[in-house]
Amino acid sequence: MRKYQQLILVIISITSISIFLVYRSENERLNHVLNVINFFGQKDAINLVKIENYSNFSYKFDYPLPSWTNLNNEFYGYSAFWRKNDLIKGGEVVAIVLGSIHSAASFQCKIHFADDDSIRYGKFGFMRIEETDISETEVGSEKYVIYKFLCKTQVDYGQQPKNLILINTQTKSEHYLPIRHVTIKNRMNMDKSLMTICLDLNSYNRSFTDDFINDTNLIQYFLHHELVGIRQYIVYQSNTNQMHQHVVDLLSNKYGVRLSLLPYNFPFALSSKEKNRMIIEADCMLRTSGLTKFVTISSLNDFIYPAQKISLQSSLIKIISRTSNEINRFLISTKAVCIDSHRKIHSDNEKYSVDVKNRRFYLEKNEYPFNNREVNDATKKAIEIDTDHIVLLKYTKCLKKDDLYNWRTTLKEKHVEYINFISQELNKLMFLSQ
Ligand SMILES: *[C@@H]1O[C@H](CO)[C@@H](O)[C@H](O)[C@H]1NC(C)=O
Ligand SMILES: *[C@@H]1O[C@H](CO)[C@@H](O)[C@H](O)[C@H]1NC(C)=O
Ligand SMILES: *[C@@H]1O[C@H](CO)[C@@H](O)[C@H](O)[C@H]1NC(C)=O
Ligand SMILES: *[C@@H]1O[C@H](CO)[C@@H](O)[C@H](O)[C@H]1NC(C)=O
Repeated sequence: MRKYQQLILVIISITSISIFLVYRSENERLNHVLNVINFFGQKDAINLVKIENYSNFSYKFDYPLPSWTNLNNEFYGYSAFWRKNDLIKGGEVVAIVLGSIHSAASFQCKIHFADDDSIRYGKFGFMRIEETDISETEVGSEKYVIYKFLCKTQVDYGQQPKNLILINTQTKSEHYLPIRHVTIKNRMNMDKSLMTICLDLNSYNRSFTDDFINDTNLIQYFLHHELVGIRQYIVYQSNTNQMHQHVVDLLSNKYGVRLSLLPYNFPFALSSKEKNRMIIEADCMLRTSGLTKFVTISSLNDFIYPAQKISLQSSLIKIISRTSNEINRFLISTKAVCIDSHRKIHSDNEKYSVDVKNRRFYLEKNEYPFNNREVNDATKKAIEIDTDHIVLLKYTKCLKKDDLYNWRTTLKEKHVEYINFISQELNKLMFLSQ
């Protein structure tokens, strides 16, 4: 009997290995076939965009909607996120809050669970998001600073925390922030998305970007990034700067672009771009946590040009996946390209200026340090990605006296070919497909 069992085991092992080998070679063959199909499929750009529209799954990045909420005169909360503890009972809520630097964050907190509609006290804590220079901004005569508020519980009350309730200890007033807690369940087509763009559409009233936000530029932005392989977009827009509904409808219904639109009703003048970027970055990281591998915080004039379509097989993703765990951001080489409004496709603008100073542009691993680190951890380690794999062209206005060069001459031939190809497809999609 024993021998019989051993024999069966051996047979099972051999069968498994054979199945595995066959499967692997089939898989490789299939990948090859898919690449070829993809290559030919690219002739029809609409199909190219739509071919990827296979999954109904939505990450619900806009659920629940965040909104700046007054917690009393000195503090405002934007969004709140739940994380269940891994090994021990309970979990914590993290909220993004803006508060006066002069007043103490004296709050208590409760968590409202949807399961049984119960409300339980949690342990309140907070951290300032410290980053020298930009963490404080004058708003009127007050100085404001970004906080991370925490509400911890060590008991499993329920699976569905619904609202964070912040209680002002002086006035005893209660303020609700809806909690986001979407996780991937084990279902088909529900993998982590590869890359998500968090697009800051806010108008900071001093830059070229303000005029740049118009319908055609919005459409071009999303179609370009769809074509180069990016599939998820979270858009932060201030009230004055909405994406028009017809643009949203066109992009989502005709091209299957997955847009999540979030209000960013900042309670003060949007004077500091850096400060708002930090808040948006923190929200973006928390919101996409566990659902996407890489994120980038971007403006409408930031166009990503990889050397090939972004996918698990592309050299860019292979390289950044191979880096050590300590490195969590990747600096992308940026060129300020002078824009001429007569050119319809942005990449037809050839000259870049070496005199324009560019903000650093990163791709970031979405490994959010939920617990004991600051939301925007300044100690994050970065490496620079070689321009052979990706460049960022930042469209801008140049001055007559600027020193100009042709950006195409700085890239490898294959890379330029790919960019030209994407531009042709974009042109077809935007101007020839009606
Ligand atoms: C998507 O939804 C439609 C209708 O709800 C359904 O018929 C289809 O099977 C779904 N597709 C996938 C891939 O789940
Ligand atoms: C934008 O800037 C202009 C000129 O600098 C100023 O007059 C205007 O009030 C500003 N608008 C807003 C909304 O801050
Ligand atoms: C896929 O395309 C159909 C129309 O062709 C659209 O109605 C649907 O919303 C798209 N699904 C996704 C997930 O983009
Ligand atoms: C949007 O701005 C671009 C320049 O950046 C211009 O070429 C285009 O005509 C504008 N489109 C609309 C609809 O205003």
